[in-house]
Amino acid sequence: MRVLLLGSGGREHAFAWKISQSPLCEKLFIAPGNAGTSQCGTNLDFGVSDFEAIKKCCIDEKIDLVLVGPEEPLVKGITDFLIRDPQLKDLDIIGPSKNGAQLEGSKAFAKAFMQKHKIPTAAYGEFTLDNYKDGVVYINKHELPIVLKADGLAAGKGVVICENYIEALAEFELMIQRAKFGDASKKVVIEEFLQGIELSVFVLTDGKNYVLLPEAKDYKRVGEEDSGPNTGGMGAVSPVPFADEVFLKNVEEKVIKPTIKGLKADGLEYRGFIFFGLIKIGDEPFVIEYNCRMGDPETEVVIPRLKNDFLEMLVAATKQELHKIKIEEDDRFACTVMAVSGGYPGDYEKGYVIHGLDKVDTSESILFHAGTITKDGNPVTNGGRVLCITSFGDSILEAVEKSKEELRNIAFTGMSFRRDIGYEFE
Ligand code: AMP
Ligand code: GLY
Repeated sequence: MRVLLLGSGGREHAFAWKISQSPLCEKLFIAPGNAGTSQCGTNLDFGVSDFEAIKKCCIDEKIDLVLVGPEEPLVKGITDFLIRDPQLKDLDIIGPSKNGAQLEGSKAFAKAFMQKHKIPTAAYGEFTLDNYKDGVVYINKHELPIVLKADGLAAGKGVVICENYIEALAEFELMIQRAKFGDASKKVVIEEFLQGIELSVFVLTDGKNYVLLPEAKDYKRVGEEDSGPNTGGMGAVSPVPFADEVFLKNVEEKVIKPTIKGLKADGLEYRGFIFFGLIKIGDEPFVIEYNCRMGDPETEVVIPRLKNDFLEMLVAATKQELHKIKIEEDDRFACTVMAVSGGYPGDYEKGYVIHGLDKVDTSESILFHAGTITKDGNPVTNGGRVLCITSFGDSILEAVEKSKEELRNIAFTGMSFRRDIGYEFE
């Protein structure tokens, strides 16, 4: 099979690493990819939202399957665009339709969907300029803390948790009246704060059947012990010790199955990944967000734990034959630790040479590139999250220690990483 993978992060390097191991893979292209994906296939020089270039590549390179990594092209409708093209009749795409991707593209859409299909989530209200005053009343009557969410995509920055009313009202005004997140905050969801522990659950669905992938926990804050601003994710672990059998059964019955049934009932075309951002309260799951793609850096622990042929799973999803796939997981713990550029998630510089990548011991660790690019034959930094090391161990602690040990071999100007990934499981 000839495969085109869209994206350029650590998630895409993990996908590329796994797909390139499949006997079904004849040729793998990654657009635009990074310095790591070029070791698994051929990088192509166009962006994930350049629909015309993607289409041209599918035709010229006789692509059989497109796997879409990030949310942006999905929310913009890449799947519908490719499927409708008469020249691409035989092309299969892993990634939901534009309507299905609204689960991530619009928080208000996702909340209404959950309410309609009785999927447990926080109570909420939705507001625009038209009912702004109602929003102010809603906030003033709300218990603290109050969670404000920009409706649209805001590069992971659109959620603000407010500890007092002055802050909540100011934030509400900034979002709606002053377009803090541009069009994304023209509409705002205000919701109840859920006190519990957070984890991520993933499925691959063909619209009818689904397979449950290993769960993961992501570490979003830049600083140790979860301090400082939110990032895309500084590390992840899988499996998650508190995601026991009872809890995961509840997740399947109360969240996953109603979601997939709901998508079908509402006529939302969906062949792809669903990422359930959950809060666990007791044994009960509550959905705090849906994403229409895999998580990053969660993919960097989920994919290495998957023993199945990943490309075979994707093909089964395109044929609505996922019921024939049995997921096999590596029983060991996997953890990933992300090395980031100085200043991230604020302003940071790029273009620094990355040293020591050849020194990584690959017997129990895997190096995944994220924001890297090859310049004059050298890997150089090209983003905030630069690379991560995933390691296996019999405990989370052991896996984390191995990743940290391997990161000590690597150096670039301004490099830092969290040393406490998995700290609560020690
Ligand atoms: P999101 O951008 O939707 O991933 O949200 C960012 C983070 O805000 C989540 O990872 C949670 O830690 C937190 N969060 C979002 N919604 C809630 C909620 N209703 N209650 C508590 N925490 C929340
Ligand atoms: N790591 C969280 C995300 O991918 O959205």
